[in-house]
Amino acid sequence: VIRRVTAPEIRGRKGGEPIVALTSYHANTARIVDSHADILLVGDSLGMVLYAMESTLGVSLDLMIAHGKAVVRGSKRAMVVVDMPFGSYEESPAMAFRNAARVMQETGCGAVKLEGGVRMADTIRFLTERGIPVMAHIGLTPQSINTLGGFKTQGRDTALWPIIKADAQAVSAAGAFSVVLEGIVEPLAAEISRETAIPTIGIGGSRECDGQILVLEDMLGYNPKPPKFVKVYGSVSTVIDQAVKAYADDVRSRAFPADENVYLLK
Ligand code: KIV
Ligand code: NA
Repeated sequence: VIRRVTAPEIRGRKGGEPIVALTSYHANTARIVDSHADILLVGDSLGMVLYAMESTLGVSLDLMIAHGKAVVRGSKRAMVVVDMPFGSYEESPAMAFRNAARVMQETGCGAVKLEGGVRMADTIRFLTERGIPVMAHIGLTPQSINTLGGFKTQGRDTALWPIIKADAQAVSAAGAFSVVLEGIVEPLAAEISRETAIPTIGIGGSRECDGQILVLEDMLGYNPKPPKFVKVYGSVSTVIDQAVKAYADDVRSRAFPADENVYLLK
């Protein structure tokens, strides 16, 4: 049995070797990412990336659990973190625990992630004290797109830096084992990384973060218009396009199926 990366291990990586995290939504990609990453995040970004939703708000707990199960089954080494979707945890710590416990029990994941800083601190403490490791997520929090007024980089107005810094301190003090810093101007994300006791994991964050995360499909070249913070490492959509075109051509020309692709009588 290969033991998985644990929340305390990630917590212990503050200031050490950078933490490698990527999203994964299903078993096919989990298998591949598992051999290179410390953390597989089953992000609620799957609503937009896989299901073409306009935001993450329509993602349900059942959908996250279904994808979480697939990623746990498809991996064996990395820690699997499952996003708590919009509406499944904000109301009260008790509600958050009930739903997070379902996620842990039904998927077998190692931790959950939820969005919010100061406002979610009580909930983070409630969960961690009851056996559920929590990864926090502050800065640009996509589930709050309607109150933020869009996918906007946070911290451009330095007068608001204390608010975001307070969020980082609150989730750390509440017991989160790490915190995602999303869409935060680099000098602020760097300061937060230096000032916060738990590892920071950046996405549109800072070179000084203790780890980095990207949406796998973005870095694989599926997204025709990736955000600035994405570095595109492959062009999987081109690979798929070429393969599907070759198949279509073969079917139309009757080059496929050939002898080796049909069952002949001996
Ligand atoms: O849903 C997601 O993919 C995320 C990461 C971008 C951090 O929350
Ligand atoms: Na998310």
